[in-house]
Amino acid sequence: MKINGIEVKIFDNIKWLYRTCYNEVASAIKKSARPVIGFATGSSPLPLYKIIVEEFGKGKISFKNCVSFNLDEYIGFNASDKNSYAYYMNNNLFNHIDINRKNINLIDGSAKSCEKEAKRYDRLLAKENIDLQILGIGTSGHIGFNEPGTNPGLGTHVTELNQRTINDNSRFFNNNLELTPKSAITMGIKDILKAKRIILIATGKAKANVIIQMLYGAIHPGFPASYLKNHKNVCLYLDKEAANLIRLN
Ligand code: F6R
Repeated sequence: MKINGIEVKIFDNIKWLYRTCYNEVASAIKKSARPVIGFATGSSPLPLYKIIVEEFGKGKISFKNCVSFNLDEYIGFNASDKNSYAYYMNNNLFNHIDINRKNINLIDGSAKSCEKEAKRYDRLLAKENIDLQILGIGTSGHIGFNEPGTNPGLGTHVTELNQRTINDNSRFFNNNLELTPKSAITMGIKDILKAKRIILIATGKAKANVIIQMLYGAIHPGFPASYLKNHKNVCLYLDKEAANLIRLN
């Protein structure tokens, strides 16, 4: 089904949701001799990465020729920090598949100059076309860490995190707001929209509101995910709870 130009898939069965997302990844990999995949972190894509690792174990998929980009990283965190997104990617995916380390692009949140690091990443991104971008959505309406108020024309940049995002992320930091990162480096909305295809995964009732705002609200900087409506090839993968407020006539 399409709602305001965005393809929406609603699943009763969460396993099937992730299996269908896996098929997206497999098909992007099959289509290109050098597939470029944009990865997200957080809870939403985790079951997808689990399936990828399982299928890789069965010899069903290979990332040998694949190039990866990640959306974002917390400032002050490097790959050895258990809460960094680099650690998450290595631990949940990259260490278990055959992707060439040289082809993995991650943002270094511990760089001396985060501005320079953002520029470095942006130069790399400028040379590539992401075939498939995997996204989650924050309860602030962010994609990547493009929080409300972000200029959609920005490339990779340093950003302060929205209080809602800090509250949400505190679950990974013993619910301690003091320990939860307040800033990050993120790919821009402009970079995300360059991807040939975008799949956004949202599950659970906490996401129902932002899904409605994205689908029916105006396109404006106060709600960053609304810019996805400017893209021709976006698909939302929703479970029943995240889709709960969508009214089907
Ligand atoms: C993660 C990212 C974020 C998350 C979003 C949803 O790399 O860029 O935009 O996708 O915060 O997080 P979860 O999936 O944990 O609800």
